[in-house]
Amino acid sequence: MSSITTIRDFPDSTWADDGPTRGIESVIEAGEVVQFAQLPFVLTPNERQFLDPRWADAKAKNISVRWPANELRGAVGSAQDLAALQAMIGRYAEQSEALALRLFPHYRGHLRRGNSSFRPVNVAGRETSWRKDDTRLHVDAFPSNPMQGTRLLRVFCNVNPNGQARQWRVGEPFEAHAKRYLPQIGRPLPGSAWLLEKLHITKRRRTECDHLMLKLHDHAKADAEFQRSSPQTRIDFAPGTTWIVFSDQVLHAAMGGQHMLEQTFYLDVAHQQQPESSPRGTLERLLGRELR
Ligand code: SIN
Ligand code: FE
Repeated sequence: MSSITTIRDFPDSTWADDGPTRGIESVIEAGEVVQFAQLPFVLTPNERQFLDPRWADAKAKNISVRWPANELRGAVGSAQDLAALQAMIGRYAEQSEALALRLFPHYRGHLRRGNSSFRPVNVAGRETSWRKDDTRLHVDAFPSNPMQGTRLLRVFCNVNPNGQARQWRVGEPFEAHAKRYLPQIGRPLPGSAWLLEKLHITKRRRTECDHLMLKLHDHAKADAEFQRSSPQTRIDFAPGTTWIVFSDQVLHAAMGGQHMLEQTFYLDVAHQQQPESSPRGTLERLLGRELR
């Protein structure tokens, strides 16, 4: 049987420090999906009005709050409503941070808060280029935003009010995935990283590790046969479910659903419990040399 990413269930029904689960760094670092089927993010009666795509700016994919500025992006509405929307997303950021620090105490003091996003737009019917199409299996890697090896830890919660699941597919483990495409991936052109940064196409230097991650992302999304027939499984995350993944490691695709919150955290590889289990560590082992 081909191996796929596995899902681990935990019974927690509270975000705060009194929940039962803690110290599960090894689970998340192994590339599993950590799922809490009874951990809803509770909206106030006033906040329920935000479960509507009309709050999303037509140009933006989703509504977000950036930190540390606490700046709301991609939303349209009155100042009063936008303040309430921002407060809701801010509360999600606080609760997910409390949860993450309880689950992963080893990361305490090292987990950095990235963007919070609220996604009231239906996944189905979102039209994009193949490269931005998240209904195709992929590991997260961004052309303009090189991570330089920093990990992407993401906390998702389905807040759909009508019983609609967030439908995902998850795919093969990262090592199998890297082995599949590494032979086809060349080294970056000499000077290209410097040029991309100079032209502000990238926000910072695209390292060789970033280059490889981006190529893995692109090769997977462009490969129709891989999308169709590689080892994979469907997961339906019901409303009231919270789940966490290292999204630069877990092959994932969003097939359907509407109304979700997501919090990104950054973690330097060095602060993992097992840095060698990171995508960078895996790529280094497969290539037999160090990456920067
Ligand atoms: C993604 O991270 O690729 C999309 C996740 C989602 O919208 O459910
Ligand atoms: Fe993704």
